[in-house]
Amino acid sequence: METVETDVLVVGSGPAGAATALALSTYGVPNVMVTRYGSLADTPRAHITNQRTMEVLRDLGVEDQITAQATPQPLMGNTVFCTSLAGEELGRLRSWGNDPLVQAAHELASPSRMCDMPQHLMEPVLVNAAVSRGTALRFHTEYLSHEQSDDGVTVLVEDRLRGDTYRVRARYLVGADGGRSRVVENAGLPTVGRMGVAGSLNIVFEADLTDLTAHRPSTLYWVLAPGATVGGIGAGLVRCVRPWTEWMVVWGYDLEAGPPDLTEEFARSVVHRLLGDDTIPVRITSTSAWTVNHLYAETYADRRVLCAGDAVHRHPPSNGLGSNTSVQDAYNLAWKLKLVLDGTAAPALLDSYSAERAPVGRQIVERANRSIGETAPVFEALGVLATSDTEQMWRNVDARKAATPEGAKQRQGLREAIAAKVYEFNAHGVEMNQRYVSDAIVPDGTPDPGFGRDPELYHQPTTRPGAKLPHAWVVRGRDRLSTLDLGGHGRFTLFTGIGGDCWEEAAAAARKELGVELVTVSIGPGQEYEDPYGDWARLREIGDCGALLTRPDNHIGFRHPETSPHAGELLIGALRKILGHG
Ligand code: FDA
Repeated sequence: METVETDVLVVGSGPAGAATALALSTYGVPNVMVTRYGSLADTPRAHITNQRTMEVLRDLGVEDQITAQATPQPLMGNTVFCTSLAGEELGRLRSWGNDPLVQAAHELASPSRMCDMPQHLMEPVLVNAAVSRGTALRFHTEYLSHEQSDDGVTVLVEDRLRGDTYRVRARYLVGADGGRSRVVENAGLPTVGRMGVAGSLNIVFEADLTDLTAHRPSTLYWVLAPGATVGGIGAGLVRCVRPWTEWMVVWGYDLEAGPPDLTEEFARSVVHRLLGDDTIPVRITSTSAWTVNHLYAETYADRRVLCAGDAVHRHPPSNGLGSNTSVQDAYNLAWKLKLVLDGTAAPALLDSYSAERAPVGRQIVERANRSIGETAPVFEALGVLATSDTEQMWRNVDARKAATPEGAKQRQGLREAIAAKVYEFNAHGVEMNQRYVSDAIVPDGTPDPGFGRDPELYHQPTTRPGAKLPHAWVVRGRDRLSTLDLGGHGRFTLFTGIGGDCWEEAAAAARKELGVELVTVSIGPGQEYEDPYGDWARLREIGDCGALLTRPDNHIGFRHPETSPHAGELLIGALRKILGHG
């Protein structure tokens, strides 16, 4: 049997696999990506692309391509609650960074803007860039099994076109094979939770809905109609794929009864029910049944097998975290693989992948599932859950218009229930506040003050080791750059300022002793980069002559508040720890 050799075999070409391959190829690591089918995602699937993911894609050099194709943030902005698109509107929530206060927070938090990039458009960008930088991609190729030895993994794959099998011998295997991951199963990764919590249908269709939507532009229109609480993701959903002509409906079904027969006639009837107007011409383009899952892996790795994406965190689309978390897993993993493969780091560095990402996976699985439950108070406030009689339901919904104390109470309840959905539609903290704790982070010994504000709603930048480098605009000559642009690029970066000469010398010593790629950046008046607004000085939490070390993923690995006669020792010690050398 033939054996193909590579450094990293990536199974899956979804957001997790494609981003892993892209980052590996960007960093010059030989890799092969195999995928079971003959094409990339052929339906819109995930779409909300948050700022942290856009920062990752910016560092990987594809942000502009994504932005050029995505629906821009301002058009995502109103989450509408209605009885149907043509029916009565019950309320709106400014969402996805479009509330003026949250908008300011987004502007301050990142050089990148959130956008709506459907998965069938995102995957080709990631995969094309990966292939153009060196990834060997094999369609129609299915992972079957693997065996590990001390120096590698031997993977059996099937060429589904030819119908034969061959072996791939890789130093590492990345299982990015989605929610039914066979790699996770074969690796025996322990999981918590369960699959199949509720049944849901996706119906993708074309229809010109400009008249019903363009005046209240949104990515999501929630339909609170009788039957909408059965299964599904909390309510009926009409999701914009392309404004305002391509759409997807999400509608629940009773899991015990099994998925309905997804005939075109059935699909059209569901769509028309949510649109509230069956005269609107609708062209159904695809249908699928899926289940809401609530499951996460407790550890993402078994020796040389590392898993990412839905393979290790399976949850509903609420909060739009699926592909975002998958891309961010990849970004955390790829630089570690590079440094272990080229011998700069010890294999122990890879232990930090699971230590850092598994808590994030658990958090987003729990957040997304909780968000489904948080739609029930909206139904309750409307009186929809109080009766099974449809006529009575509509009377209850109408009761909120009465000039009575009960009517006022109902109106107040509805406003509050809709406002509480901010945890699903404007959870900037969930998207941006990841703070890692692992052996690849060197604590600075100061007590952790925790989050001053709600960590799910508010992004709170800090330079505490483990946090993401805060964004500030700095300038070099006439160019404006984000601090995040100075870090990243697959290498370590040491930030310092006026009086930080000892750190520049320490960096030179570290490069020499550890062979690590490490650049230094000095910010301040007369330095290579200047801080004209003073933003960086306000955010950096160290003195001018202190130092911040960022890892290739722009998370802070080490900081020191000021100059030090032991700078070389401190920096080399920190890097040795991060690199798994002790
Ligand atoms: P993903 O499932 O995208 O990719 C897995 C990859 O592995 C695929 O390329 C597949 O071909 C490959 N593969 C699987 N088994 C293999 C094997 N044995 N050998 C080789 N290759 C193999 N999210 C959201 O936020 N909003 C939404 O509306 C939806 N809707 C939606 C609909 C449907 C039908 C699905 C399946 C999923 C969604 N999602 C979603 C979830 C979202 O798509 C998901 O979170 C991300 O795609 C996860 O990315 P991954 O790369 O981890 O898995």
